[in-house]
Amino acid sequence: MRVIEWTNDFALGIDEIDEQHRTLVGMINALDARTHCDSEPETMRRLLAQLSHYVRDHFGLEERLMGSGGCSPDLVGRHFAEHAYFRSVLKDLTTDFEKGRRNVTIPLIEYLVHWFLHHIVVVDRAMTHQLNAAEPDLATRVAAARLQHLTDELSESDRRLLVERLSKEQAVRRA
Ligand SMILES: [Fe+2]
Repeated sequence: MRVIEWTNDFALGIDEIDEQHRTLVGMINALDARTHCDSEPETMRRLLAQLSHYVRDHFGLEERLMGSGGCSPDLVGRHFAEHAYFRSVLKDLTTDFEKGRRNVTIPLIEYLVHWFLHHIVVVDRAMTHQLNAAEPDLATRVAAARLQHLTDELSESDRRLLVERLSKEQAVRRA
Protein backbone atom coordinates (compact mmCIF):
# COMPACT_ATOMS: atom_id res chain seq x y z
CA MET A 1 0.00 0.00 0.00
CA ARG A 2 1.25 3.48 -0.83
CA VAL A 3 1.50 6.18 1.82
CA ILE A 4 0.22 8.81 -0.53
CA GLU A 5 -1.37 8.51 -3.95
CA TRP A 6 -1.14 11.28 -6.53
CA THR A 7 -4.54 12.48 -7.75
CA ASN A 8 -5.44 15.40 -9.98
CA ASP A 9 -6.81 17.21 -6.93
CA PHE A 10 -3.17 17.92 -6.06
CA ALA A 11 -2.42 19.44 -9.47
CA LEU A 12 -1.77 23.19 -9.49
CA GLY A 13 -1.90 23.57 -13.26
CA ILE A 14 1.78 24.44 -13.77
CA ASP A 15 3.11 21.34 -15.56
CA GLU A 16 6.71 21.62 -14.43
CA ILE A 17 5.79 22.05 -10.77
CA ASP A 18 3.08 19.36 -10.87
CA GLU A 19 5.64 16.96 -12.32
CA GLN A 20 8.05 17.78 -9.50
CA HIS A 21 5.30 17.25 -6.90
CA ARG A 22 4.53 13.87 -8.46
CA THR A 23 8.21 13.03 -8.12
CA LEU A 24 8.00 13.86 -4.41
CA VAL A 25 5.05 11.48 -4.02
CA GLY A 26 7.21 8.79 -5.65
CA MET A 27 10.06 9.52 -3.24
CA ILE A 28 7.77 9.35 -0.18
CA ASN A 29 6.49 5.95 -1.32
CA ALA A 30 10.03 4.75 -2.05
CA LEU A 31 11.09 5.74 1.47
CA ASP A 32 8.13 3.86 2.91
CA ALA A 33 8.87 0.76 0.80
CA ARG A 34 12.40 0.84 2.17
CA THR A 35 11.13 0.60 5.76
CA HIS A 36 9.48 -2.74 4.88
CA CYS A 37 12.11 -4.49 2.81
CA ASP A 38 15.50 -2.81 2.71
CA SER A 39 17.51 -1.82 5.74
CA GLU A 40 20.77 -1.18 3.85
CA PRO A 41 22.20 2.21 4.92
CA GLU A 42 23.37 2.75 1.34
CA THR A 43 19.76 2.76 0.07
CA MET A 44 18.78 5.37 2.64
CA ARG A 45 21.87 7.42 1.81
CA ARG A 46 20.86 7.38 -1.86
CA LEU A 47 17.26 8.40 -1.06
CA LEU A 48 18.44 11.27 1.14
CA ALA A 49 20.78 12.46 -1.63
CA GLN A 50 17.92 12.27 -4.15
CA LEU A 51 15.71 14.27 -1.83
CA SER A 52 18.37 16.91 -1.33
CA HIS A 53 18.86 17.20 -5.10
CA TYR A 54 15.10 17.41 -5.54
CA VAL A 55 14.81 20.20 -2.98
CA ARG A 56 17.52 22.24 -4.70
CA ASP A 57 15.81 21.86 -8.04
CA HIS A 58 12.20 22.25 -6.99
CA PHE A 59 12.55 25.03 -4.42
CA GLY A 60 14.97 26.76 -6.78
CA LEU A 61 12.30 26.90 -9.47
CA GLU A 62 9.51 28.09 -7.15
CA GLU A 63 11.72 30.69 -5.50
CA ARG A 64 12.89 32.11 -8.84
CA LEU A 65 9.28 32.27 -10.01
CA MET A 66 8.17 34.14 -6.89
CA GLY A 67 11.27 36.31 -6.96
CA SER A 68 10.35 37.56 -10.42
CA GLY A 69 7.15 39.17 -9.11
CA GLY A 70 3.42 38.51 -9.01
CA CYS A 71 3.09 37.30 -5.42
CA SER A 72 2.31 39.34 -2.32
CA PRO A 73 5.28 40.03 0.01
CA ASP A 74 3.40 38.19 2.79
CA LEU A 75 3.07 35.03 0.73
CA VAL A 76 6.65 35.22 -0.55
CA GLY A 77 7.93 35.63 3.02
CA ARG A 78 5.88 32.73 4.34
CA HIS A 79 6.74 30.53 1.38
CA PHE A 80 10.49 31.14 1.61
CA ALA A 81 10.36 30.57 5.39
CA GLU A 82 8.63 27.21 4.92
CA HIS A 83 11.21 26.18 2.31
CA ALA A 84 14.00 27.20 4.70
CA TYR A 85 12.45 25.13 7.49
CA PHE A 86 12.14 22.11 5.17
CA ARG A 87 15.83 22.48 4.22
CA SER A 88 16.80 22.57 7.90
CA VAL A 89 14.72 19.46 8.75
CA LEU A 90 16.29 17.55 5.86
CA LYS A 91 19.77 18.72 6.78
CA ASP A 92 19.32 17.75 10.46
CA LEU A 93 17.94 14.29 9.63
CA THR A 94 20.73 13.68 7.09
CA THR A 95 23.36 14.72 9.66
CA ASP A 96 21.76 12.43 12.28
CA PHE A 97 21.78 9.57 9.78
CA GLU A 98 25.43 10.13 8.92
CA LYS A 99 26.25 10.13 12.64
CA GLY A 100 24.76 6.64 12.90
CA ARG A 101 21.11 7.26 13.82
CA ARG A 102 19.20 4.66 11.84
CA ASN A 103 15.59 5.46 12.71
CA VAL A 104 15.27 8.63 10.65
CA THR A 105 12.98 7.14 7.98
CA ILE A 106 9.68 7.28 9.90
CA PRO A 107 10.09 10.90 11.11
CA LEU A 108 11.16 11.85 7.58
CA ILE A 109 8.09 10.20 6.00
CA GLU A 110 5.79 11.82 8.58
CA TYR A 111 7.32 15.21 7.89
CA LEU A 112 7.09 14.78 4.10
CA VAL A 113 3.43 13.72 4.23
CA HIS A 114 2.63 16.70 6.45
CA TRP A 115 4.60 18.88 4.04
CA PHE A 116 2.72 17.54 1.06
CA LEU A 117 -0.71 18.02 2.61
CA HIS A 118 0.01 21.45 4.04
CA HIS A 119 2.61 23.22 1.94
CA ILE A 120 1.71 21.90 -1.49
CA VAL A 121 -2.04 21.96 -1.03
CA VAL A 122 -2.22 25.35 0.70
CA VAL A 123 0.90 27.48 0.16
CA ASP A 124 1.93 26.37 -3.34
CA ARG A 125 -1.70 26.68 -4.43
CA ALA A 126 -1.87 30.25 -3.13
CA MET A 127 1.36 31.00 -5.04
CA THR A 128 -0.17 29.57 -8.23
CA HIS A 129 -3.35 31.66 -7.85
CA GLN A 130 -1.36 34.86 -7.41
CA LEU A 131 1.03 34.07 -10.27
CA ASN A 132 -1.84 33.24 -12.62
CA ALA A 133 -3.66 36.44 -11.71
CA ALA A 134 -0.53 38.54 -12.35
CA GLU A 135 0.75 36.81 -15.48
CA PRO A 136 -1.36 35.68 -18.44
CA ASP A 137 1.60 33.91 -20.04
CA LEU A 138 2.76 31.96 -17.04
CA ALA A 139 4.21 29.06 -19.07
CA THR A 140 6.85 31.36 -20.62
CA ARG A 141 7.77 32.72 -17.23
CA VAL A 142 8.07 29.21 -15.77
CA ALA A 143 10.38 28.23 -18.66
CA ALA A 144 12.52 31.34 -18.05
CA ALA A 145 12.73 30.61 -14.30
CA ARG A 146 13.70 27.02 -15.06
CA LEU A 147 16.45 28.10 -17.45
CA GLN A 148 17.68 30.66 -14.94
CA HIS A 149 17.83 27.99 -12.24
CA LEU A 150 19.71 25.57 -14.50
CA THR A 151 22.30 28.13 -15.53
CA ASP A 152 22.79 29.29 -11.92
CA GLU A 153 23.57 25.69 -10.99
CA LEU A 154 26.25 25.36 -13.67
CA SER A 155 29.93 25.73 -12.93
CA GLU A 156 31.70 28.76 -14.42
CA SER A 157 33.29 26.68 -17.23
CA ASP A 158 30.00 24.92 -18.08
CA ARG A 159 28.25 28.29 -18.15
CA ARG A 160 30.87 29.61 -20.58
CA LEU A 161 30.42 26.54 -22.81
CA LEU A 162 26.64 26.97 -22.76
CA VAL A 163 26.89 30.66 -23.70
CA GLU A 164 29.31 29.81 -26.55
CA ARG A 165 27.00 27.11 -27.82
CA LEU A 166 23.92 29.35 -27.67
CA SER A 167 25.81 32.13 -29.49
CA LYS A 168 26.85 29.68 -32.24
CA GLU A 169 23.27 28.43 -32.58
CA GLN A 170 22.03 32.00 -32.79
CA ALA A 171 24.62 32.82 -35.48
CA VAL A 172 23.57 29.73 -37.50
CA ARG A 173 19.92 30.75 -37.22
CA ARG A 174 20.72 34.30 -38.39
CA ALA A 175 22.82 33.12 -41.38
FE1 LIG B 1 6.76 25.65 -2.26
